[in-house]
Amino acid sequence: MTASTRIAKLMLDDKSFDLPVMSPTLGPDVLDIRKLYAQADVFTFDPGFTSTAACESAITYIDGDKGELLYRGYPIEQLAAKSSHLEVCYLLLYGELPTAGQLADFTKTVTRHTMVHEQMHNFFRGFRRDAHPMATMVGVVGAMSAFYHDSLDINDPWQREVASFRMIAKLPTIAAMAYKYSVGQPFVYPKNSLSYAGNFLNMCFSVPAEEYVVSPILEKAMDRIMMLHADHEQNASTSTVRLAGSSGANPFACIAAGIACLWGPAHGGANQAALEQLREIGTVDRIPEFIAKAKDKNSGIKLMGFGHRVYKNFDPRATVMKESADEVLDLLGIHNNPTLQVAKELERIALQDDYFISKKLYPNVDFYSGIILDAMGFPTSMFTPIFAIARTVGWISQWKEMIAEQNQKIGRPRQLYVGPTQRDYTGVAKR
Ligand code: ACO
Repeated sequence: MTASTRIAKLMLDDKSFDLPVMSPTLGPDVLDIRKLYAQADVFTFDPGFTSTAACESAITYIDGDKGELLYRGYPIEQLAAKSSHLEVCYLLLYGELPTAGQLADFTKTVTRHTMVHEQMHNFFRGFRRDAHPMATMVGVVGAMSAFYHDSLDINDPWQREVASFRMIAKLPTIAAMAYKYSVGQPFVYPKNSLSYAGNFLNMCFSVPAEEYVVSPILEKAMDRIMMLHADHEQNASTSTVRLAGSSGANPFACIAAGIACLWGPAHGGANQAALEQLREIGTVDRIPEFIAKAKDKNSGIKLMGFGHRVYKNFDPRATVMKESADEVLDLLGIHNNPTLQVAKELERIALQDDYFISKKLYPNVDFYSGIILDAMGFPTSMFTPIFAIARTVGWISQWKEMIAEQNQKIGRPRQLYVGPTQRDYTGVAKR
């Protein structure tokens, strides 16, 4: 952030208040209202944070109009084409691309943390088999704070580091265990000779009775899904992690809070909801009826996988994901399944429809990720857990950035109170 000489003036009744203007390295200027309440006795009102910068951050930049997404300055398209998820993890955590030696060390460290405490297996067995894997993950990740006492002290930089390695390494194991438990198959231990993505596929799809060979194309597609979802500046789940962390809560509890927030269908739950909606539409001839419902506010139906709070032109992640979807479907020889036909036709019609054009609603990353994950053989309930694995590094990077801030304060929004004014209590007999 660079100090700007510009000052905004707020006129309230007959008084004027100066609001310093802060200039970011990229993006719109920001009005500093921190002293506004003390000076003018007013709050600002911005539910949904549509015009509020809640923190300073040097991690991810999004230009929604240009459809631009940068991790530490690097365009997502370049990273998706040339990098790997673990390299992106390093970049997000430490701010720079690693040297070959740094990447090898980082990969080794993460790989060595992939197993979970053996006693956690019993913990899993306490859940019902039909539990949604996200429900299991919220519980199990939160419970990590009951297992890893030596990485709970948020004031110790080394403990923060170890907690980061643990979560990046163990989230795939936990998600795969949640899946295996839900289908009644034995847990598969991590295999450290495999890549991060390959290991996850192996833990999900191999069984002790048979040899499972990870397909390089599926491994690459999974790695790309992870890179594309790794961070997205101050989205709802990341803001949740920051808010939870601002009270001094331990890192495992904060990431569990992020997972809970991600689950919602307006956020990470959209990939599951999008594919389920495609299946519900079922056949191409039902699309017009469905689009009509999505346009009707009273129907309560939205076209899942369309629209984004920030991207109002296109979602750059969706462009890469669409290419990946084509590769995966080609590899698996899936050209004509009904869900894919509905998806392609829905995308074509919606992109030409005035309602969607005028409201700048384009397919987002979740529209295509569901198609790939479905083709890979994942049930829809695993789509959001995979998003959670990928986003873990973003949550942790943002949490670490916040904890390291000099004057970090607890997050405590104010409100526009619209309830009753003070009134006297009446006993039950008189009501
Ligand atoms: N289908 C139909 N209409 C829509 C859709 C949609 N998917 N999305 C937005 N609209 C309409 C709204 O009804 C609203 O109409 P209005 O101006 O007449 O009131 C207008 O477009 C603006 O929408 P908002 O909901 O105000 O936009 P907001 O920025 O708050 O929401 C969101 C963005 C939550 C992503 C929304 O577009 C949505 O619910 N999409 C479907 C769910 C989804 O795909 N979420 C994934 C997001 S990406 C991610 O998390 C990785």
